[in-house]
Amino acid sequence: MAFTRKPWAEPYKIKVVEPLKMTTEEYREIKAKEAGFNTFLLRSEDVYIDLLTDSGTNAMSDYQWAGMMLGDESYAGSKNFYYLEDNVRKHYNYKHVVPTHQGRGAEHLISRALIRDGHYVPGNMYFTTTRAHQELAGGTFVDVIVDEAHDSQIELPFKGNVDIKKFQALIDRVGGHNIPYITVGATVNMAGGQPVSMANLIAVKELAHKHGIKVILDATRVTENAYYIQQREEGYANKSIPEILYEFCGHTDGATVSGKKDVYTNIGGFVAVNDDDLFDELRNMVVIYEGLHTYGGLAGRDMEAMSRGIEEMVRQENIEFRIKQVQYLGDMLVEAGVPIVRPVGGHAVFLDAKKIYDHIPQEQYPAQALAADLYIHSGVRAMERGIVSAGRDKDGNEYKPKLELVRLTIPRRVYTQSHLDVVAYSVIDLYQHRHEAKGLKLVYEPKFLRFFQARFERL
Ligand code: F0G
Repeated sequence: MAFTRKPWAEPYKIKVVEPLKMTTEEYREIKAKEAGFNTFLLRSEDVYIDLLTDSGTNAMSDYQWAGMMLGDESYAGSKNFYYLEDNVRKHYNYKHVVPTHQGRGAEHLISRALIRDGHYVPGNMYFTTTRAHQELAGGTFVDVIVDEAHDSQIELPFKGNVDIKKFQALIDRVGGHNIPYITVGATVNMAGGQPVSMANLIAVKELAHKHGIKVILDATRVTENAYYIQQREEGYANKSIPEILYEFCGHTDGATVSGKKDVYTNIGGFVAVNDDDLFDELRNMVVIYEGLHTYGGLAGRDMEAMSRGIEEMVRQENIEFRIKQVQYLGDMLVEAGVPIVRPVGGHAVFLDAKKIYDHIPQEQYPAQALAADLYIHSGVRAMERGIVSAGRDKDGNEYKPKLELVRLTIPRRVYTQSHLDVVAYSVIDLYQHRHEAKGLKLVYEPKFLRFFQARFERL
């Protein structure tokens, strides 16, 4: 056999397997209708390859599972907390850590602690739960990401960067005293998993601190960001992932983290800060909303799994495989001419539904329709990341994001390259029959984060 490239493979072998259910297209058509054409409302046992999210869907290692048996389930002062605290200090470079049940628990605490009515909170593109908590706390989110991030086809190494001019313009307009902090997401989920450069983060910090504004990192997928800095930014090729991560976080005042991504766990999160007074407030608030400050809604074993996951996430072979596996799927689709967000990002391949279903107007939810069609076609579950996810503004008008995407998110250490071959084949086949597709109409809409529970019918 002749190889066109040097083969590479998973840096792990499989110890336990979970069988998958195979279904027919007729069966899936019924299930899609029952689920209101919303992939969040499908039962997972009816899904063949589940690319809904990389959140909490990771396979833990034997090292993490072994740690689960060392859970110290004491109400107060669990040893697993202190181990987590050590690892957060060592790798994320913050002084204080407050565990939470997951990322949005951390977002809730930081938003409540820092945002007051009338405040503005800039960020490099919104994330659904992050913005929801900022708005619930009385703030107005302002997008300050570079323009290119809203265009799926422009290839840039750091397409998640903050546009410093936009940030400056907001400060000029509303005053630094009305901006408690800027959220910097790394990598930027809604932009397609695009990274932020070290140089950009430093520029953000300098401008923010000049005006008394804090920099809060959404460090949910920051290890992926560190890998891109190592590969793409001048001066970092010879630095290790732990060194880059430590330096990167060091330019910020604090972070919210969903441990369900980079950290290879199924649940967990934390908020970490340097400021002693802010920590005091967070630590006091967590007892109301999550649990005592040494468990924050988690079992001791979950904190142990997170702590061990942090040690694994920073290993070069792990993060490199992670990024390359996503790239592998993206490359197959690009080769077949399927429009996707370029360059391929860290955690997912994003299909450009506006371009694929260019005969369906945005008001008929083309990305939602494409995600449903992909499930019916082949049992692959994806997620809408377009007008449905964007929701409505305070006056009830639908946000109309430029990006109308379907996300094929790759869980860590779960699927093999053969699974991704099947996914690519299915997407390409669907793409070739794209003109037969129909739009959707919204028939039920919940008040908050509507994409999770909304229902649709085919037009
Ligand atoms: N920040 C980012 C960038 C995220 O992607 C998520 C979750 C959160 C915060 C919230 O964390 O789910 O632990 O409460 N993203 C998931 C996703 C849901 O599918 O992208 P959480």
